[in-house]
Amino acid sequence: MHHKVTIEPFRIKVVEQIKLTTEEERQVFLKNANYNPFLLHSNEVIIDLLTDSGTSAMSSEQWAGIMRGDESYAGASSWQRMENTIKDLTGYTYILPTHQGRAAEHLLYSRIGGAGKVFISNTHFDTTRANIEFTGAKAIDLPIEEGKHPEVIHPFKGNLDTKALLRTIENYGPKNVAAVILTVTNNSGGGQPVSMANARAVAEICKKHSILFILDACRIAENSWYIRDHEAGYEDKTYRQIAQEMFGLADGCIMSAKKDALVNMGGFLALKDLDLAISCRTVLIITEGYSTYGGLSGRDMEAIAQGLEEVFDEDYLDYRIKSTAYLGNHLDAMGIPVIKPIGGHAVYVDARSFYPHIPPHEFPGQSLVCELYLKAGIRSCEIGSVMFGKYDEQGQLIPAEMELVRLAIPRRVYTQSHIDYVIETFRELKKERHLAKGFRITYEPPFLRHFTARFEPLGGKDSPQVAGLEKGGVFA
Ligand code: F0G
Repeated sequence: MHHKVTIEPFRIKVVEQIKLTTEEERQVFLKNANYNPFLLHSNEVIIDLLTDSGTSAMSSEQWAGIMRGDESYAGASSWQRMENTIKDLTGYTYILPTHQGRAAEHLLYSRIGGAGKVFISNTHFDTTRANIEFTGAKAIDLPIEEGKHPEVIHPFKGNLDTKALLRTIENYGPKNVAAVILTVTNNSGGGQPVSMANARAVAEICKKHSILFILDACRIAENSWYIRDHEAGYEDKTYRQIAQEMFGLADGCIMSAKKDALVNMGGFLALKDLDLAISCRTVLIITEGYSTYGGLSGRDMEAIAQGLEEVFDEDYLDYRIKSTAYLGNHLDAMGIPVIKPIGGHAVYVDARSFYPHIPPHEFPGQSLVCELYLKAGIRSCEIGSVMFGKYDEQGQLIPAEMELVRLAIPRRVYTQSHIDYVIETFRELKKERHLAKGFRITYEPPFLRHFTARFEPLGGKDSPQVAGLEKGGVFA
């Protein structure tokens, strides 16, 4: 029999109570959080779709690994297991463990960045961009044109524009390009996959110009699902083999283990080049920890090694991609504008077209994030002008390319009825869409402002009396 329903391929062994709240309660919680869901307490949230990062449910085998964790300072057996697993998977020789992905970014980009250097990516994730810009270097995003249009269908919208890449290398001079970073899947661009053909083309360009080619590989298992499904010649390969082929094209990778390694904390940097690895190891030991644990406990390293094996399981990956698409396709069918095709780890709603009456400088994405929370206790994340907006010299907002709201799906955590509840909420929000109001920022830090920014609603009864940013620091 052919089954239409894709079931969760796991049973639930441990449960965590969700606290149900009322709309009146949530109004108070949101105001206290200054209309920034990052500042909410988790027990004020019913369905948490803020991120798929570090929010996975671990398997019984991972928990068993937690007990086996070897906490020796140097040369722990848990480190050997993690190192061997990553070497086998990636083919890279030098593995540097870190407490999460951005620490690995810091190790590498602080060594190869600096003023005058340029980094090029399909899209830099926000911590990647911040780590690069913090060194004084420049980060340039070159997604393919299709990737910039939410409604355009293309099987690999995460691809990097190779023509633009060549032009940009020529423009800045190959010596000034510190690295090309391919983010798979392309998180900020809608969780869209990158094809093997694109990765191969990027690899060739990098090789020809002697430029370092790095994979931001935190969702490479999910990316492999799309390659097998959509790219000719991969039908008979395993997801793991597809990932291995892609790793083989690059000079190294950065991985936040909080995604496709199915753990709550962890990451690593993996490199082919010895001199670069030694240089990064110095920063590792100064900032993270000794080179056989980095920022990790032995038990974390066991769980990562186990997770990196489980994530390539055929039934798991099939369920993972299809259950995310279930949410996306239902929203699409009811006329909610979503980025299509649906990405692997999240559904991205195009808030600019959902709320056309709210201009970018009043942050339509922030409005949708707040409405979802108020209506149903659903926490989501703005990926638009709050996250990526800049200011020109006159202090006017230069809006982001898109005004998106990300509904990220934690791995193995929510069941179909949780997702049906999200779908039902959107049905309500659609009816009231014309009532939604914009926001203004009352406080923002200089880097990564979306985490700690504070907001005030415009036009409603809480509308601000005075304009202008608050002076002084706010430590949220
Ligand atoms: N690269 C990508 C593509 C990411 O999505 C993330 C994190 C990182 C690097 C940094 O890894 O969090 O372990 O330091 N993304 C999370 C998210 C935060 O919600 O998408 P980290």
